[in-house]
Amino acid sequence: MVCLGNICRSPAAHHVMEHLIAQRRLADVIEVDSAGTYGGHAGDLPDPRMRRAASKRGYQLTHRARRVSYADFAEFDLIVGMDGGNVADLRRMAATTEEMAKVDMMGRYITRFPHYDYVPDPYYEGAEGFELVLDLLEDACSHLLDHIEEMINQRN
Ligand code: 4NP
Repeated sequence: MVCLGNICRSPAAHHVMEHLIAQRRLADVIEVDSAGTYGGHAGDLPDPRMRRAASKRGYQLTHRARRVSYADFAEFDLIVGMDGGNVADLRRMAATTEEMAKVDMMGRYITRFPHYDYVPDPYYEGAEGFELVLDLLEDACSHLLDHIEEMINQRN
């Protein structure tokens, strides 16, 4: 899960995914992590506004921010950007066509919000921006996980 700072959207996506993975009893099969294309917040906990909004929905955000690395492209099967800028940055980092094919966008999996095909940056927004991010992610992550389950079934 990748956004710009790895302190708002992607750590939320990370924990929402982990919650769904545990619910579907897939924790032995799927590993999820998050990172940012910008490393300026590396080592930080998620933004307090994101932690507060997430905790009200039962997600305890404990991830420490880190910058996405070239090694992530070898390590992970899917690298999901939150908006078009993240996806463009990730595509620039891909070293091979195989790595390029791993880059996906969270917006593709949003189904309940017809006005959104990306997860907007809430950093300069009020509290409602953080609620919107969680609404979008709770919708999209469940469909993203359906897609990942299909990927796994095709391999087996
Ligand atoms: P995120 O939000 O990409 O969802 O973690 C942001 C966090 C920090 C900054 C921008 C967006 N920043 O400019 O520092």
